[in-house]
Amino acid sequence: MKTIFSGIQPSGTITLGNYIGAMKQFVELQHEYNCYFCIVDQHAITVPQDKAELRKNIRSLAALYIAVGINPDKATLFIQSEVPSHAQAGWMMQCVAYIGELERMTQYKDKSAGKEAVLAGLLTYPPLMAADILLYSTDLVPVGEDQKQHIELTRDLAERFNKKHNDIFTIPEPRIPTVGARIMSLQEPNKKMSKSDPNKKAFISLLDDEKTIEKKIKSAVTDSDGVVKYDKENKPGVSNLMSIYSILGGQSIAEIEKLYEGKGYGDFKMGLIEVINNKFNPIRNRYNELLESSELDDILDKGAEKANLVAGKMLKKMETAMGLGRKRK
Ligand code: TYM
Repeated sequence: MKTIFSGIQPSGTITLGNYIGAMKQFVELQHEYNCYFCIVDQHAITVPQDKAELRKNIRSLAALYIAVGINPDKATLFIQSEVPSHAQAGWMMQCVAYIGELERMTQYKDKSAGKEAVLAGLLTYPPLMAADILLYSTDLVPVGEDQKQHIELTRDLAERFNKKHNDIFTIPEPRIPTVGARIMSLQEPNKKMSKSDPNKKAFISLLDDEKTIEKKIKSAVTDSDGVVKYDKENKPGVSNLMSIYSILGGQSIAEIEKLYEGKGYGDFKMGLIEVINNKFNPIRNRYNELLESSELDDILDKGAEKANLVAGKMLKKMETAMGLGRKRK
């Protein structure tokens, strides 16, 4: 069985973009692969966090993973900071990476732009991400489009390590969905939907209630043309909403165009609201049950135990390959 690793940051709310670009794939893939899904809390502290909020978000994301359909009997679910090999291997990968290549990462450029004080961790975050992936001899990394560059860097670092030290790493491939790899903002459809968007109307959270979802979809930017037709170039707002409709509702774009032929955006938006609620209501209900349960702690304890075992073995190989530590007499 091939191995999959992926992670989501517990920074703020989990959006429709995270669900479509990442989580939905995870649920489908867990049946065919040996899967590790991680709550990457150490990545979250590369930007300032409120500690009470962060703790809350970590548990909340764990509950969401299960609520969307991750089966802990099939996949290993764990919190990054509970598996110290990640930070240790992350440091070693920093000593394989060059500053120049880290400075070229678009996410680093975007997140640091215009800031006076940028944390060093924001720059050195991709080697930690590489460590996350490489510790599990990962074959495939399911992610949205925005993470592609980080996976390419992971491949470069793994190849460099294999050549320079010892051939111990599997070279991972990204797995980016053909539709929904980049869900756009509801307010500025030429920009990625992001949980850190200061305009809350720009994204839908998996935990938004029905009323909030209705308001956000009703105020989503469209155009003055009034025709429900997919045209990414000229109708980015409507096209983004149609992608969401298609992925969550299971209808093709052509079927949606036909369904709303001769009808306006009002009808289309009401249909979309229903599609989103049908998908998210059961997720929210399961989430609320899980959040306060000890079941969740048991799942995370078991996940950390398994991850520590697997990652620990690779960490030892890395240390030996780099000449760290000592050989017992
Ligand atoms: P993060 O937490 O920003 O996002 C989690 C996942 O959601 C995807 N995503 C989207 N997909 C489609 N449309 C969008 N608008 C959208 N917004 C986010 C992301 O591509 C990602 O798959 N660095 C990673 C976390 C990470 C990781 C890893 C991922 C750390 N270690 C190892 C894979 C493997 C991040 O910040 O994702």
